Amino acid sequence: SMKLPRRTLLVLCGPAGSGKSTFAARYFSAIPTMVVSSDYCRAMICDDPTNQQVNRDTFDVFHYIIRKRLFNGRFTVADSTALHAEARRKLWELAFHFGYLKCLVVFNVSLATCLERDRLRERQVGPQVIEYHIRLLQKALQEIPAEQWDRVYLLNEHDMEATIEIDP
Ligand code: CTP
Ligand code: MG
Repeated sequence: SMKLPRRTLLVLCGPAGSGKSTFAARYFSAIPTMVVSSDYCRAMICDDPTNQQVNRDTFDVFHYIIRKRLFNGRFTVADSTALHAEARRKLWELAFHFGYLKCLVVFNVSLATCLERDRLRERQVGPQVIEYHIRLLQKALQEIPAEQWDRVYLLNEHDMEATIEIDP
């Protein structure tokens, strides 16, 4: 159960196909604009959610929108893989700057499950990317304890149920 203050940045972290966007859509359906997605930011600037040539601009837009939401005191979910320490650090620092609670939700999902989910979906990232993401996840799981998140929620692939309450 996650009981979260209004001023929380909830950072999702996990491989492609681990269920981050599904989780975000499920728990934040009442106010979907709470979820800022790097894939959506990518599509907004180049009409192609898979174009890796525009990473820098994609994350400029992603961080910019998150910054403006935090400036306005809005509860925000950052939907990106956040598998690199540097990606997490950037989001951590945005939350810190605005005096937000810094929460990380880690999608600890196996290679086999991510591969299977990827295979069944429309926009596929492919096995090579997912294998790489699983290695980054293992590294992230080692690094995260030293990163000073206020809260870390580790979601198991067989138990992604959550109760999320946001203070009024
Ligand atoms: N899915 C599933 N069961 C879950 C979670 C997700 O079957 N518990 C399916 C979704 O329906 C989707 C696929 O797995 O077809 C990938 O889920 P998604 O939420 O899109 O994964 P993300 O982590 O957001 O992947 P990406 O990083 O590529 O955006
Ligand atoms: Mg997604």
